[in-house]
Amino acid sequence: MSGPTDPPRPARGVPVPALLELIQHLRRALLARGEFLGPSWVEEAARDLHDARIPGWVTGPVTAPTGVAFYSLRPHRAYGHVHVDPSPSPAADAEALALALIDSLPPPILRLDIGTTGLGPEEDSVVTGRLAARPGVSSLHRFALERAVRPADPAAATPAPRGFALHAIGEIPMESLAQLDWLAFRGTPDESLVADSLEEDRRILEEIVGGELGRFIEEASAALVDDEGRFAAFLLTAEQSARRAVFLDLVVHPAMRGRGLGRFLLTWSMRALFALGYDDVRLWVTAANAPARRLYDAIGFRPVLEASIYRFERPGPPTPHPQPGA
Ligand SMILES: CC(C)(COP(=O)(O)OP(=O)(O)OC[C@H]1O[C@@H](n2cnc3c(N)ncnc32)[C@H](O)[C@@H]1OP(=O)(O)O)[C@@H](O)C(=O)NCCC(=O)NCCS
Repeated sequence: MSGPTDPPRPARGVPVPALLELIQHLRRALLARGEFLGPSWVEEAARDLHDARIPGWVTGPVTAPTGVAFYSLRPHRAYGHVHVDPSPSPAADAEALALALIDSLPPPILRLDIGTTGLGPEEDSVVTGRLAARPGVSSLHRFALERAVRPADPAAATPAPRGFALHAIGEIPMESLAQLDWLAFRGTPDESLVADSLEEDRRILEEIVGGELGRFIEEASAALVDDEGRFAAFLLTAEQSARRAVFLDLVVHPAMRGRGLGRFLLTWSMRALFALGYDDVRLWVTAANAPARRLYDAIGFRPVLEASIYRFERPGPPTPHPQPGA
């Protein structure tokens, strides 16, 4: 029987041991998904929620909560997360937690992206459907794809596509990486999923290259530059575990797509990963990103996990109409 759920209550003041237990479960779910978390993440998150340094909500008994939600704020947007442990009503709890985040969002914040863990695919689609009825809420469905890096590809290394040369990421100025990344995601379903300004994009790329999302694997990351010195594409690869790598970012300049640059970077990197001793590689792709999905499918990546991101967008302030004669 799944009875009515109690509304979420603030995580502030919930006993730290109770929060620790739940956040351990969240950590396990995030690690299974390939997220990278620092060594004291669980303890810090539990304390930050208890002390209300992070705005958060819980569901279930106060001494043993079964659901938690929280967000972190950036200048104009927030990133939230909802986690539910098995309970009589995981979908209802997740929905209520997501709504608690949305309803408490401070007014200057225009967008909130909420990741989830703990829901099965059916529960996830129930929550997606219910939240979609709420004004301003949409969702992005994402797949984790995986492939072994053993060289099932042609035995000989493929040369770089004609007219392009391979460069180490360290040879490319960070500003150029950020500009290409920013440009490449424009108009794709992932636009503004990760960053909604060039500055934020640069900051995230710095985090990737600085190893904050898993040890950066320089030997399996690369850029392509054409004969005239134009920067065309890059791939950033990090370590997820001793045996598994993750492609964190792949972009090709819009004017240079469809020439095999994306395919080349991926296959080149998988050869490098194999030589480095990794077994497989994973990546996340948005369901609606058809070109990327077709490319990954063509080179043998297969889905291993799926997850939704619930997005809330507040209507922005009305654009002022220019006054005649102003
Ligand atoms: C996805 C992306 C990297 C592909 O790069 P690309 O260099 O154009 O891809 P390739 O030329 O190597 O294409 C290889 C295969 O992918 C598929 N593909 C690529 N672009 C496609 C498109 N627009 N439509 C359909 N299939 C496409 C095809 O199967 C193609 O094989 P084919 O050339 O034998 O038909 C590029 O579109 C891009 O930068 N997109 C924006 C950023 C992004 O979404 N990155 C991935 C995030 S997960």
